[in-house]
Amino acid sequence: MSELAISAAPANRYDPVSILLHWLVALLVVVQFALGELWDFFPRPVHHLMVVTHMSFGVILTAVLLCRLVWRFVLGHEVEDFTSGLIRVASRSMHYLLYALLIIQAVLGFLWPWTESHALNFFGLAIPSPFGAFSKATNDTVSELHDINAWVIIVLAGGHAAAALAHHFILRDRILSLMLPARWDRG
Ligand code: HEM
Ligand code: HEM
Repeated sequence: MSELAISAAPANRYDPVSILLHWLVALLVVVQFALGELWDFFPRPVHHLMVVTHMSFGVILTAVLLCRLVWRFVLGHEVEDFTSGLIRVASRSMHYLLYALLIIQAVLGFLWPWTESHALNFFGLAIPSPFGAFSKATNDTVSELHDINAWVIIVLAGGHAAAALAHHFILRDRILSLMLPARWDRG
């Protein structure tokens, strides 16, 4: 069966599309966090460029995330379980939690400028708010939640990355190599 077809059974390793989408999401999350936490240290023109880059990459991250979710949950590109018991429950829960928090972060990211009645700037293209005006309190809540959620995502993703590295270097199993090109697979 072609790799693009809906898989009937979980695969033995992640397919190239899943691998590409995973590392794109990971890279964009780290870049987004760095931009958002660092732009206050830069003078005005650079600061503005960083904010616009963050918004633009945010739209791209949302699109990549949606592709990842459709590929995984609608088209069924899944991987069989290589762990069992508590480790399996913990890793599955972490993956679902990361997906949920990323979706929430994307929604909050769009709502941040829109609840201020500003357009979202996508590489110079203005994406206007589909809503009317919101109170200042609503906008403050949205921005606060986006900021807190950014930290939660980074801490959890850090733990998730540490677990993947522990599998690779301490337990010396195949888990990390499942998410790498086939030539590095330890299986
Ligand atoms: C996981 C992904 C993301 C992370 C880690 C992240 C992180 C951050 C951080 C740390 C800030 C600064 C908060 C502050 O200054 O208090 C911020 C601001 C912002 N983010 Fe994100 N963000 C993400 C995704 C998105 C997405 C998907 C969008 C929109 C499509 C977005 C739009 C914005 C906007 C509009 C601001 C405010 C910019 C301003 O000060 O005017 N973010 N983000
Ligand atoms: C911000 C960064 C990251 C995010 C948001 C993220 C998110 C995810 C998610 C949601 C999955 C589940 C995939 C699925 O089955 O649908 C996953 C799997 C995986 N990730 Fe990440 N990840 C990040 C960074 C990393 C890093 C840095 C590493 C390695 C050091 C890593 C290694 C892995 C591995 C090995 C798997 C497969 C685990 C398994 O199937 O049990 N990830 N990641």
